[in-house]
Amino acid sequence: MKKIRRTTIAELLGNAEKYVGTEVDVKGWVRTRRGNKHVQFVALNDGTTIKTLQIVFDLEKFSDEQLKAVTTGSSIHVQGELVASQGKGQSVEVQAAELEVYGTANPEKFPLQKKGHSLEFLREIAHLRPRTNYFSSVLRIRHALAYAVHKFFNDKGFYYFHTPLITASDCEGAGAMFQVTTLNLEDLPKGEDGKVDYSADFFGKQASLTVSGQLEGELGATALGCIYTFGPTFRAENSNTPRHLSEFWMIEPEMAFYEIEDNMDLAEEFIKYCISYALEHCADDIAFLAEHFDKELPERLKFVIENDFVRLPYTEGIKILEQSGKKFEFPVYWGVDLASEHERYLVEEHFKKPVILTDYPKEIKAFYMKLNEDGKTVRAMDVLFPKIGEIIGGSQREESLEKLEKRVNELGLTGMDWYLDTRRFGTVPHSGFGLGFERLVLFVTGMQNIRDVIPFPRYPNNCEY
Ligand code: 4AD
Ligand code: MG
Repeated sequence: MKKIRRTTIAELLGNAEKYVGTEVDVKGWVRTRRGNKHVQFVALNDGTTIKTLQIVFDLEKFSDEQLKAVTTGSSIHVQGELVASQGKGQSVEVQAAELEVYGTANPEKFPLQKKGHSLEFLREIAHLRPRTNYFSSVLRIRHALAYAVHKFFNDKGFYYFHTPLITASDCEGAGAMFQVTTLNLEDLPKGEDGKVDYSADFFGKQASLTVSGQLEGELGATALGCIYTFGPTFRAENSNTPRHLSEFWMIEPEMAFYEIEDNMDLAEEFIKYCISYALEHCADDIAFLAEHFDKELPERLKFVIENDFVRLPYTEGIKILEQSGKKFEFPVYWGVDLASEHERYLVEEHFKKPVILTDYPKEIKAFYMKLNEDGKTVRAMDVLFPKIGEIIGGSQREESLEKLEKRVNELGLTGMDWYLDTRRFGTVPHSGFGLGFERLVLFVTGMQNIRDVIPFPRYPNNCEY
C-alpha cells in the first residue's frame, strides 16, 4: 500500500468535490457486497456517518480469491481514486486499486447478516449491535446530546460538579439502592443485636450506589452558584418497563437563588436546546431513524421546540383527569402518584403538548422539596413528554432549617447533618432538577424501549458484559 493519509467516510462524503479525482485511503467494515462476474460493489461503513461509501472492485484487477474474505462484517483497507458514480444511490464511489483485509467475519457465524433484524434480537447480541445502522445512529445522537448538555451549561456559566457514586445517603428516600460491600456474604460479622456489623465493612458503615447526586449538588450550588452533575445513577427498583433502567445517566443542575419559575424556565430552555442541537448536528441519523422506524419523528421534535410547555398545578391536572371520562387502569384521586397512563393522557390527548406539572402533594414527593403555604403541597415540577411521560423531575428546595428538620424527623431520616448545614449556614432559596439522559435520547431517536438507547443496558435479571 502507498503512503496516503486515511480519510474518514464522513469527511469524504461531506466534501466530495474536494476529493473527486484524487487517490483516497479508506478503512472500515463491509456492510454488504453485491455484483456480477465483472464487477463487485461493496458498501463500506466506518462509523463516522450513517452513510456508506461504495467501493467498486473490477474483477479484471481483483480475483475471486482476493475478494473471498470481503464479506459482511469484515474489516478492510482500500486505496483508489474517488470518482463520480455512474449508479443510483450515491454521488461518488471509490475505484479500488489496492485492498488489504484486516479481519474476516465468517458468514456462517457473523450474526448480523441480513438487514432488518428485530430490536429484540439485537438486544440479545448487544455487544455487536453498535455495528448496525440503527444502533450506530442512536449512539451518534447520544454522543451529540451529551456534548450539547455540557455546552449548554458551560455557556451559561454553570460548573460541572462531580458528586460521588458511592454514598451513605438515600437522596430520594425510595430505598431502592444497590448496596456496596466487601463483607463476606457467606460469613457476615454480627453485633450482639444479631444485625450485620457494618463497622467491619470497607467504609466502616453501610454504603450504596447513588440514586441521585442532588444532595451533594446542593453543597456545590450553595458555594459556586450554579452547578450541574452528569453521571451514572443506580436504582434497584424492580421496574421492568420500557422507561426504566437499573443504571442510567442523569443530569442534575442545581441553582442558588432560583425560585420554581426560574427552574421551569431553565428546564424548558435546556431541553429545547438539546433537541435543537440534535436536529442541527444529527440530521442524517435522525432522517435515517425517521425513514426506518418512526415517520413522525422530525415533526415531533420540531413541535416540542416551537411550542411553549403547558404549566399546570397537580390539583388542576387531577380535575382534568377526573373529568376526562376516560377509564384508566389505575384510579385517579387527589393525592395519587400519577401513573404513566395519566401523564400521557394529559400530554398526548388533552393538551397535545409537553406539560410541566407543579405543586404535588407532599406525601408523594421527596423530603427536600419546599412546602407551599397551603401546608399540603410542595414546590415540585415534573416535565411530562409525549411518548415518554416524566422526563424531568425537580423542585424548589426547602431552605428553612426549621421546616426541613421537621420533615427529616417526621420521616426518621438519619445522618443528614452535613446536608442540613447548607440551611444552618447562609441558607438561600434554591432549586434544581434531574433529567433522565436515556429518556431524552429515547425521545430524540424515537425509539420505543430505553434498553435500546444505552450501549450496555442494566435491568432486573440482566447484567451482561
Ligand atoms: O424524578 P427523579 O427521581 O428525581 C431525582 O432524582 C431528583 N434528585 C432530581 C433533582 O431534583 N435533582 O429522577 C429524575 C429523572 C426522572 O424524571 C427520569 O427522567 C429519570 O431521572 N429516571 C430514570 N430514567 C431511567 N430509569 C430509571 N429507573 C429512572 N428513574 C428516574
Ligand atoms: Mg420523579
